[in-house]
Amino acid sequence: MENTLKIPFLNNKQIEKTFHNPEEDISDLHTPDHVAIIMDGNGRWAGNRGMPRVAGHKEGVSTVVKIVKIAVKCKVKVLTLYTFSTENWKRPKSEVDSILRLPKEFLSIYLPELIANNVRIEAIGDMEDLPTHTREAVQYAIDRTKVNDGLQLNIALNYGSRHEILKAMKKMFTDLNDEKLSLDDLDEQHFSKYLYTTGLKDPDLLIRTGGEKRLSNFLLWQLAYTEFWFTDVLWPDFSETEFLHALKEYGQRKRRYGGI
Ligand code: FPP
Repeated sequence: MENTLKIPFLNNKQIEKTFHNPEEDISDLHTPDHVAIIMDGNGRWAGNRGMPRVAGHKEGVSTVVKIVKIAVKCKVKVLTLYTFSTENWKRPKSEVDSILRLPKEFLSIYLPELIANNVRIEAIGDMEDLPTHTREAVQYAIDRTKVNDGLQLNIALNYGSRHEILKAMKKMFTDLNDEKLSLDDLDEQHFSKYLYTTGLKDPDLLIRTGGEKRLSNFLLWQLAYTEFWFTDVLWPDFSETEFLHALKEYGQRKRRYGGI
């Protein structure tokens, strides 16, 4: 396939340097299979430094790189990152444009490393309404990584959970009408197949940075039995150490799924 992103391929030494982080102790971890993250606090991080909000989003990409690395190292199976919500269109156009340029910027630098580390890229959300450059960069990465079976990195772009559920219901009603589905077959597992996250295990752990304690229309169906971990740390300051802290605390939680 043509390298439409004009990606500067790194040599193995550079990849090893970027992805290898020997200081962190990951022994005795009870690693969650699926970690979802609401990456909040970029704007405040920039504001605290007298910088424009977009500088916070750019710094946020560096945190994404660090967290993907440590997630690979910890053998997390799925990492879902809330990158741009259906509500984020309400922000000033310059900020929206800037956030939507980040996937391409990120992938044009890091895709080779992601490939070298067996990461598979996926996206959830309504891709049709995104700018062509965002859609093409993400689709290129999805195509280039589809044979990988390591960490699945899910980028949530133009994602909103209520919209996802409504869309699923509309498709489901069409299938009922067309007799591709019968009401008797309809259960939670079956409904889940109509969501963007079809085939994925629900998140085991949700991390939200930036101090707020809400879900902001993220994975409302999928988070029914997820463990939540909140921190005041702003996303650009979030580190491998905090990520491991969340994983360690997760390992101590007793998950009963409504049982005793
Ligand atoms: C919320 O912080 C953050 C966003 C809306 C954008 C998050 C995007 C990134 C971190 C870049 C990710 C890039 C890739 C390629 C995965 P906020 O702006 O609402 O912060 P505030 O609450 O301090 O204003």
